[in-house]
Amino acid sequence: MTERSSVLDRVLVLEMVRVTEHAAVAASRLIGRGDEKAADAAAVEAMREALNELDFDGTVVIGEGERDEAPMLFIGEKVGRGAAMGTPAGPRIDIALDPLEGTTITAKAGPNALAVLAISEEGGLLNAPDVYMDKIAVGPGYPDGVISLAKSPSDNVRAVAAAKGVAPADLIVCVLDRPRHEALIAELRGLGCGIMLIPDGDVAGVIATTNPDTGIDIYMGSGGAPEGVLAAAALRCVGGQLQGRLVFRNDDERGRARRWGITDLDRIYGLTDLAKGDVIFAATGVTDGSMLKGVKRRKDGLITTQSVVMRASSGTIRWVDGEHRDHRYR
Ligand code: FBP
Repeated sequence: MTERSSVLDRVLVLEMVRVTEHAAVAASRLIGRGDEKAADAAAVEAMREALNELDFDGTVVIGEGERDEAPMLFIGEKVGRGAAMGTPAGPRIDIALDPLEGTTITAKAGPNALAVLAISEEGGLLNAPDVYMDKIAVGPGYPDGVISLAKSPSDNVRAVAAAKGVAPADLIVCVLDRPRHEALIAELRGLGCGIMLIPDGDVAGVIATTNPDTGIDIYMGSGGAPEGVLAAAALRCVGGQLQGRLVFRNDDERGRARRWGITDLDRIYGLTDLAKGDVIFAATGVTDGSMLKGVKRRKDGLITTQSVVMRASSGTIRWVDGEHRDHRYR
């Protein structure tokens, strides 16, 4: 079990839910409106506002992009009540956030859009550049090392099938539906696996491997590196295995990685390389999904949310149903 952090006060556990709820409710007004940018902007602004009410000295290590690309919640931005007033104070905390994971999903009213964040002590979360990451993940209960990015997809499927005591053809693999995954999908079809192709949202895709109700055994394929760190933070709390390897499409992306201090560009990262020490992970559903219900507005004006918050050191997972009457949520 991970040692409990004295910096991540337990009060922060529930405060994190307040932050993701705020972002999710803001984004939910834009569900199905066909405007990804507006949905993202609403979530970003709301998440920043909620973070700036907290008594900590927070630094965004995974955010909306580099300073010159993102007006708010850029990497390196200081958040917390002190930062908002120009005098950061309180415990120093690193934050990985995605105020709206699934901007396109939200614009199209599809499933599994989330407002999500993870926090750690300073230095606990990989400062991942915004490039792709090859990922493979399974839920809890498998022997250590059952999956490895050093092995082929077929070898990984065979190893997981053997550990589960079934045939490879009995497994369901979750993969982002992208042309770049054509070869992977063909290889998996060759093994007879079921493939759940998701349109977006691989944080939810990875976390789905930890929930037997989803039927998903393995997550495979490349998605955003920041999303890889967020998913790793969740798996640190709930159990399971994940490996990630950064994928670079050009020298500019390699340069970005070097700027973040990454020297070994081929490194395979394990769970604790991506999110180490005590970590708190929180997510609120924006649209209905495999893990969480989305935001709903009732006829009487009540807004309901569903969130999950988990902590690595205790392994505690809390499901939080929110009913919001506060005018700020309208
Ligand atoms: P956004 O919310 O930023 O749109 O990300 C959605 C997402 O599907 C992630 O879950 C995933 O990691 C990434 O995009 C995949 O990138 P791409 O759409 O370029 O394949």
